[in-house]
Amino acid sequence: MSALRFSSRLNPMLSNRILSQTNLLFTLSSFSSSFKKTSKHLYCTSNSTLHNNGGTSLSLSSNSPLSGLEDELVGYIFGKKKATEVAHLVWRHVLRKGDMVIDATCGNGCDTLAMLKMVADESGFGRVYGMDIQTEAIENTSSLLDQAVTPKEKELVKLFPICHSRMNEVVPENTAVRLVAFNLGYLPGGDKSIITISRTTLLALEAAKKMLISGGLISLVVYVGHPGGREELETVEVFASGLSVDGWICCKFQMLNRPLAPVLVFIFKR
Ligand SMILES: C[S@@+](CC[C@H](N)C(=O)[O-])C[C@H]1O[C@@H](n2cnc3c(N)ncnc32)[C@H](O)[C@@H]1O
Repeated sequence: MSALRFSSRLNPMLSNRILSQTNLLFTLSSFSSSFKKTSKHLYCTSNSTLHNNGGTSLSLSSNSPLSGLEDELVGYIFGKKKATEVAHLVWRHVLRKGDMVIDATCGNGCDTLAMLKMVADESGFGRVYGMDIQTEAIENTSSLLDQAVTPKEKELVKLFPICHSRMNEVVPENTAVRLVAFNLGYLPGGDKSIITISRTTLLALEAAKKMLISGGLISLVVYVGHPGGREELETVEVFASGLSVDGWICCKFQMLNRPLAPVLVFIFKR
């Protein structure tokens, strides 16, 4: 079993409850996701299968922001789900059709696509504002959407080749943003020297904090295996740790015996 560190700054009882109840019934979910590279662009696919392991069950109080995600949490604890998959499941839990969301690091567009599927509906109200400092990433995201969604759905996505610290300049004022997602680090399959950095990540988090509505989420997948990654994680942790208990719930998921595994940080606005 993977060693997992779970911390909930605002609700320490929550982490205790999760860990103390993992001995009750487990329904393991196996969910595989892969990146494939075509001659023109990168795209991602995913399949999901449920396995009943016939054990015990994890239950959370109904007012927990993680309530309803028990199977996913257990899948992560047992190494069956990747950090990005858990992030998507948490988004699905928070988002509704017609929501406004921000992908602060588009990359190859897998996260943008996942968000679009969660917010797009017939009403045409949902929006995904995506940004990346690399034109290549914006192009990859656009190509992936061309392949995976209808032109009408694609119209709901607005892509900007800018630094995420400037998100407030491209998202219309008073937009009710329910999710701001960061998948930090470098572009998979791209130039590994172009990475997110602490200074602009912090500026982007400050901007996201102001734009988020009550009941919204800032989601981060933080990679620590490249130079500057650990410093960036520390910046994220200091930011989240400083948020008021009355206004925010901040959680971190980290594998203890896999020091280079990505770290998940969720910042819920009450
Ligand atoms: C790990 S990748 C994102 C993966 C992506 N979400 C996906 O689903 O494929 C990180 C991305 O952040 C971008 N990036 C780096 N610094 C940035 C910044 N200051 N503002 C916006 N994007 C940035 C990189 O160009 C890279 O494409």
